Amino acid sequence: MIDLTWAIDPVYIATIFFFIVGLQRMSHPLTARSGIVWAGAAMLIATFVTFLTPNLTNFALMAIAIVIGGGFGYIAAKRVAMTDMPQMIALYNGMGGGAAAGISAVALLGTTNAATASLAVVGGLIGAISFAGSVIAFLKLQGLMRPRPITFTGQQFVNMAFLTLAIISGVLVVLQPSWIPLTVSIYLPLFFILSLGFGFLMTLPIGGADMPVVISMYNAFTGLAVALDGFSFATPNYAMVIAGIIVGAAGSLLTLNMARAMNRSISNVFFGAFGATEEKGIEIQGSMKSIDADDVAVMLAYANKVIIAPGYGMAVAQAQQKVKELTDLLESKGILVKFAIHPVAGRMPGHMNVLLAEAGVDYGHLFDRDEINPEFPSTDVVLVIGANDVVNPAAHRQGSPLFGMPILDVEQAINVIVLKRGQGKGFAGIENDLFYRDNTRMLYGDAQESAGKLVQALKKL
Ligand code: TAP
Repeated sequence: MIDLTWAIDPVYIATIFFFIVGLQRMSHPLTARSGIVWAGAAMLIATFVTFLTPNLTNFALMAIAIVIGGGFGYIAAKRVAMTDMPQMIALYNGMGGGAAAGISAVALLGTTNAATASLAVVGGLIGAISFAGSVIAFLKLQGLMRPRPITFTGQQFVNMAFLTLAIISGVLVVLQPSWIPLTVSIYLPLFFILSLGFGFLMTLPIGGADMPVVISMYNAFTGLAVALDGFSFATPNYAMVIAGIIVGAAGSLLTLNMARAMNRSISNVFFGAFGATEEKGIEIQGSMKSIDADDVAVMLAYANKVIIAPGYGMAVAQAQQKVKELTDLLESKGILVKFAIHPVAGRMPGHMNVLLAEAGVDYGHLFDRDEINPEFPSTDVVLVIGANDVVNPAAHRQGSPLFGMPILDVEQAINVIVLKRGQGKGFAGIENDLFYRDNTRMLYGDAQESAGKLVQALKKL
């Protein structure tokens, strides 16, 4: 048989180039789809070329694992609703962390070199934390576990005790004398049990609203674990090292960006138990005033400028197609329509951009918070479609859990119409006094139905 071992590293380097191009293309909505294709192709090539590694065994087991894993991933990705995407990412990321921890265990069983064993221990610790934490994130987001922060007295102490003991047992794994085989040592299972325990425990006090940030952080952890594992083989695996570092860096940047968009520090996200307590002593003046679709249509027909502020409710209602229809209709009447996109609207980064792009809304219509905020005072009508926290003026009130979060200042518009089903709060669970203001009217109902009614009413005018 021809020896193709020499081809492995050059092909890995080529796939790394593909990963970087893919990542670069993912940074803009217009090229993001092709970025996924570049990165996916790179992963496929890297996986196949790995089979050229000398002395590989268990081909049948690997093929079965790839068919089962690939088949499950394909079907799940086809079926998943856009609104359930965060928990699916949590699950897949957890599997990545679990796989990294598994590779560490195998590397530890096969090495007597203290340097590679140390790298495998650190990779195993981070991978196991990422796995356990991602499982909790999945359970909370899927509603299989109470999404509110779970706190108890002495929690930080217990967490630190688990982490310290996990590190000590990891050190003992590395220092294990070579005449006691690691397969019979108690330190290895203890190390993984304590690492997993720490991952579970450190995620319990984090509320559901913060889960996307946490998932992104664990994603960075998984990348780092994979990179460390890449060094723990007798011959380093450069594809794992560089792909892991790219994931680690991209995940860390995304985490920081999301935290910044919520005006929170990373330590506040992880240790602040956000959402554990309700805001007390706040009495909102005024009342919610409802309006029907016909009256909103008249208001829209006389407007010069309309801004649409979408949020999580638009995703739940899958209202984006109707919103696009409404936009086209308004523009055909000579009305200027813009979209105000908050960076953490919805439940995942770029959630609104993806939905609107899917519906065919031109990217030129979308404006970020800093661009659009100065425009609200001169806007005749703002349509808030299923958004709540990202338009909550409580963010300007000292003492509010949302205090300091940069929001869309929709309350400054001449008229605000809010499309939502009822009295439901936002994800942060905080009352929104925007709904009680004199210039706000509530158009109750599912956002897709309400947007459809607006289209019909406008057509009749
Ligand atoms: P939310 O504050 O979650 O509010 C969504 C609103 O949509 C609810 O008040 C709900 O009210 C309404 N709604 C639900 N289903 C609906 C339907 N079928 N039709 C019409 N309305 C419906 O949304 P948001 O303003 O987009 O804020 C996002 C939240 O997620 C923020 O707290 C943000 O910090 C958090 N978060 C997001 C991210 C990312 S990356 N996006 C990351 C971390 C945290 P009703 O029940 O009355 O209908």
